[in-house]
Amino acid sequence: MTAGLVLVVAAVHSEGGRKCAEMKRHGVRACLVGPGIDARAVIDATRPAVVVIDMVSAGASASNLCRQLKRDVDTRLLPIVLICEPHDRGARLAGLQSGADTVLHMPVDFEELMARVRHTVHASQFIGDLESAASIIMTLTAMLEARTCSPGHCHRMANYAMALGRVSALSEPESQALYRGAFLHDIGMLALPDAVTHKSGPLESHEYELIKSHTVVGDALCANLRTLHAVRPIVRHHHERLDGTGYPDGLRGDEVPLLAQIVGIIDVFEAITAGRAYERPRTADEAIRVLHDEADRGWRRHDLVDGFESVVRAGALESARRPGPLLDPGSAATRPGSSVVSVSDRPADPGRATDR
Ligand SMILES: [Fe+2]
Repeated sequence: MTAGLVLVVAAVHSEGGRKCAEMKRHGVRACLVGPGIDARAVIDATRPAVVVIDMVSAGASASNLCRQLKRDVDTRLLPIVLICEPHDRGARLAGLQSGADTVLHMPVDFEELMARVRHTVHASQFIGDLESAASIIMTLTAMLEARTCSPGHCHRMANYAMALGRVSALSEPESQALYRGAFLHDIGMLALPDAVTHKSGPLESHEYELIKSHTVVGDALCANLRTLHAVRPIVRHHHERLDGTGYPDGLRGDEVPLLAQIVGIIDVFEAITAGRAYERPRTADEAIRVLHDEADRGWRRHDLVDGFESVVRAGALESARRPGPLLDPGSAATRPGSSVVSVSDRPADPGRATDR
């Protein structure tokens, strides 16, 4: 049985009322809300695990209450089980259309009722866990945003990456990972002291080593959230170079994950065009020249840089520059026009674009 409260909205002498009494006899925490009592107020006050509404005794208000609960952000995940008259297809449809999680016909089998209650509660908890993970991601991102000298950085990074990803024939899961990874690629910077990340002058060698650790630290942070496992290669390897001179693992060639290569290109472009507190923004043309130079050095794939240049020339980044709302990263892949931002790393040499 569910450990939480089961709130039953029904008359005492109704199917719902009888089931409520039966629940209590079986040791379930159940509470009956009879006609004339403000069920919504009771729900707000008691925060039940599930609500069972007897549509027969609650009448037309049953659908309204259900619809209201599913519209409200605070209660939209609250599982709702409706009980309606047998063979009443209209009532069943009305219940489902109002957002009920499940509808049962009278006479209700007690075991089936409790099974439905357990199922809806578990499903709701699962969705709640996913929402919590998404909230954590958004919170971490907001912390990143607060620490960057370039507001909108993470949003732009994600949108730029998606623009390049779209011409790179990525699968949907890859696109989703790219979006999240570009958004969060510098999440490890959260663990570094401001004295280093905000230093305006050249970095000492030990400080540079600290900056480089953001890749490994970020990877470890993401390892704690299963929903972020797909972005770990991006977080860890976006500073690798194809010739093996990057960090943290000195990967070479195809060992560098494609999505990390894409984010690496975007990171350079963003660092150059957005500028930093210690460096004026430069033009997209200058950024493209730097990227081609890096491809010539063997750091990046020529075809990816060419592809990104075509994206830039086509003006596909213009909409991505505009600030937009923070999105659920899980659904971002299906919103190609959405706007997102990154804390780009401090260069070891202020004359250089990034700490590559
Ligand atoms: Fe980085």
